[in-house]
Amino acid sequence: MRVDVVSIFPSYFDGLELSLLGKARASGILELRVHDLRDWTSDRHRTVDDTPYGGGAGMVMKPEPWGLALDELTSDAGGDAPTIIFPSPAGEVFRQATARQLAVREHLIFGCGRYEGIDERVFEYAATLGEVRLMSLGDYVLNGGEVAAMAMIEAVGRLIPGVVGNPESLVEESHEDGLLEYPSYTKPSTWRERAVPDVLLSGNHGAIASWRREQQIERTRTRRPDLLPE
Ligand code: ADE
Repeated sequence: MRVDVVSIFPSYFDGLELSLLGKARASGILELRVHDLRDWTSDRHRTVDDTPYGGGAGMVMKPEPWGLALDELTSDAGGDAPTIIFPSPAGEVFRQATARQLAVREHLIFGCGRYEGIDERVFEYAATLGEVRLMSLGDYVLNGGEVAAMAMIEAVGRLIPGVVGNPESLVEESHEDGLLEYPSYTKPSTWRERAVPDVLLSGNHGAIASWRREQQIERTRTRRPDLLPE
């Protein structure tokens, strides 16, 4: 998979090298390229923002550098049209199901906005080059799209076959089956007077599986009732 990121703070993404995605990049499964939006400006100050038409607080990202960036990053792509993701608190919520959809795409482009947002015409233009999705990490406001894009890239990247060593560990995670994950324990069997639940030491695989399922349902009911059907 090829992932291009456009940002005015490209060094944010240095951190992705450290996690398991570093391995995916080294092995060639994931080709991540981070670009500075200012490389597509032409004035002396490398300006990327301007005041909003109609007035109001803050600055808006100018369309021209975005247009040039998108032209360049979509021009050499053979195969499928890219999916162009703009992290935004005004987007649809990014979920595990979204990560699964994106993990099978050949080419993702993340456009990270700052300030009060990006000129709306950029989204319209991007839609002529690929599939555009405005995606929110959740119902809170970050300073820009960078942290959100990093979270999305990690969530998608680890679903690409070969990135996570043991694919079974993906199946039993929170959100994969619509429920939160069951609790886990390791040795010692008693620690600070707290014992591991007996059933996990019983060797009875059927009983363990049902206990884990009950725990998943109970946790989801108390912590995330919104995930359960009415
Ligand atoms: N940019 C600012 N806030 C954001 C959020 N919650 N999700 C995605 N991108 C954002």
